[in-house]
Amino acid sequence: MYTARSSPRLTYRAVESSDEAFLWSLTTNHEDWRNFNPVMDRPPTKTYISDWLKKMMTGSMLAAIVSLPKDPSNPNSAEDTPIGIVNMVGPLPGLESHHCSLFGLILLPGFQCKGYGTEAFNWAVWWQFECANMHRLELFVAEGNERAIHVYKKAGFSVEGCRREAKFFEGRYWDIFLMGLLVGSGEAGKGGRRGL
Ligand SMILES: CC(C)(COP(=O)(O)OP(=O)(O)OC[C@H]1O[C@@H](n2cnc3c(N)ncnc32)[C@H](O)[C@@H]1OP(=O)(O)O)[C@@H](O)C(=O)NCCC(=O)NCCS
Repeated sequence: MYTARSSPRLTYRAVESSDEAFLWSLTTNHEDWRNFNPVMDRPPTKTYISDWLKKMMTGSMLAAIVSLPKDPSNPNSAEDTPIGIVNMVGPLPGLESHHCSLFGLILLPGFQCKGYGTEAFNWAVWWQFECANMHRLELFVAEGNERAIHVYKKAGFSVEGCRREAKFFEGRYWDIFLMGLLVGSGEAGKGGRRGL
């Protein structure tokens, strides 16, 4: 069902320096970008995107471009259409023994609410357990991002904590939830090492 490069309807490849324009297109929808990006709510700059790209290429365990295959019957067909990115940041130097990673996902608006986010999210969970040997996955999500929270809970993630009033936009503070999943638990984690 999953390989390191594909899930049933989607393909995955590493982000490349040529992806700058695509990453810029992910900033087009203000609310989506604000939900995904932890920085101050302000117009993004090309420099910020370029730095983000460099950071992902050098510092991420895997920053994967999520794509629709040109030929849906062949997940390896060329000229896929990029629809989003999942950025998985592995343990920082000195923290490797904990096998814990942090990740986030964003899709272009036109490809949301079609089940692709759930599929890409579950693939990222699978990849981190099965290919990257992670033991624990975690992510942060803002209060009010109900669609994302639903997708994460469906995959088995639980809310483990709350950074109260940790993000400010629209004139008020919003809570940020910490959500986590252990290998072998939850729907998406069951394929993990201990669940096999
Ligand atoms: C969050 C995101 C990745 C989800 O991907 P998606 O393709 O839109 O999601 P899916 O279509 O796979 O699934 C959406 C699910 O949420 C449900 N949903 C939609 N709106 C909802 C809402 N307001 N409240 C609760 N659930 C909601 C849908 O019914 C569906 O659930 P189901 O499959 O059980 O029926 C995508 O919407 C996105 O990129 N958002 C902008 C960036 C972002 O917020 N990223 C997360 C940062 S933490």
